[in-house]
Amino acid sequence: MQRWRIAAPLFQRSRMIRRTGFVKPAEGSIPALRDAVHPVLQHLKVARVVTESPSTKTYYLKPSDTESRIAPFQAGAYLSVNVADEDKAGTTPIRRPYSISNTPDEAQAENAYAVTVRIQPGSFIAERIHRTWEPGVSVDVSDPQGYFTYETLRDAPHVVFIAGGSGVTPFRSLVGDILAHVPDVSITLIQGASAPDEFLFDEDFLNREKSEPTRFRRITVLSGENEAQAETTRRGFITTSLLAEALNHGKADQPADFFVCGPPAMHEFVNREITALSKPPRRIRREDYGGSGQPSNKPRYSIVVRYSGRDDEVTIQADPGETVLVALERAGLIVPSSCRTGACGICRGRLLEGDVEYPAPPSGLRKADELEGYFHPCAALPQSDLIMEIPAEPAER
Ligand code: FES
Repeated sequence: MQRWRIAAPLFQRSRMIRRTGFVKPAEGSIPALRDAVHPVLQHLKVARVVTESPSTKTYYLKPSDTESRIAPFQAGAYLSVNVADEDKAGTTPIRRPYSISNTPDEAQAENAYAVTVRIQPGSFIAERIHRTWEPGVSVDVSDPQGYFTYETLRDAPHVVFIAGGSGVTPFRSLVGDILAHVPDVSITLIQGASAPDEFLFDEDFLNREKSEPTRFRRITVLSGENEAQAETTRRGFITTSLLAEALNHGKADQPADFFVCGPPAMHEFVNREITALSKPPRRIRREDYGGSGQPSNKPRYSIVVRYSGRDDEVTIQADPGETVLVALERAGLIVPSSCRTGACGICRGRLLEGDVEYPAPPSGLRKADELEGYFHPCAALPQSDLIMEIPAEPAER
């Protein structure tokens, strides 16, 4: 292994600490450093808004006070964003994870995170953001989180990034950061979109292809009935043969890793195609988004929600095509959440009666918890009427 791959994480960590503007005091520095790198909540405001496509906008979020710096992050991280309900002032906001789309260098230079938000069918939170976020609006976010990052000690020297729709947002940050700071790594990005004007960050990727032609290549794939706007754009699905073509971009004697980010339906399809290439699971990393499911025409289920340690209960209706967490939020019941992919465990509840199904196994659900009846509502679709229990006063992280 090249020596720089072992040293790179140390340089990366020093770079992140420098980005906080943190100055090491004479003593007692650890709590201050922890708060600078991992603040529980960051108070930001919308500084500017950029329209990326007919359905998508990027919001640049800066600290509310001019003294503060944003917490540093690794490319590929996400923020849990608090989205207030404008009709219910004073109520607990709903949390949504959004990948940071600018690179750590860009964010540092502007002291602002970029989060890119696309409206899709049924995405009532994205609609609320588009309707209410304008320059000057206050937004609270978590510290940067997640593991969808490129690690020099773990990951291969050729990476194939596969993005569906706004799943390309973490890749904008990853591509820019890897090309700037990780030598000898080549990247192939397969970018899928439903319409020609929905290829997000098109100009940015074109410029990177021109400036780093041997290290970065993009393949665009158009689904739906639209005519491709460029001859180079493929039509249809991300198939095994397209993945094999992407692999050829790397050095033949070196391994390659897949990073996949997109809606659940794309994950299902792409996972099958990657499996056909006989890739071991450790070579595949995935980031879900839009895992709220989609409303369906099937009959609705009822969910009885009990609060632990209390006598009262609430009954709500749930669409079988949407996750239990979304059903709770639609009914105005706020359960703390962060990753919304079943990984962090913050939304954990207890299933007392009924059945749920996980379209993708929740990676953070421990076997012992499952045996005790716990489940992750953010990743579970109701399959019958349910009775569940949630903490009366859930602990925020
Ligand atoms: S929000 Fe992370 S497991 Fe549900």
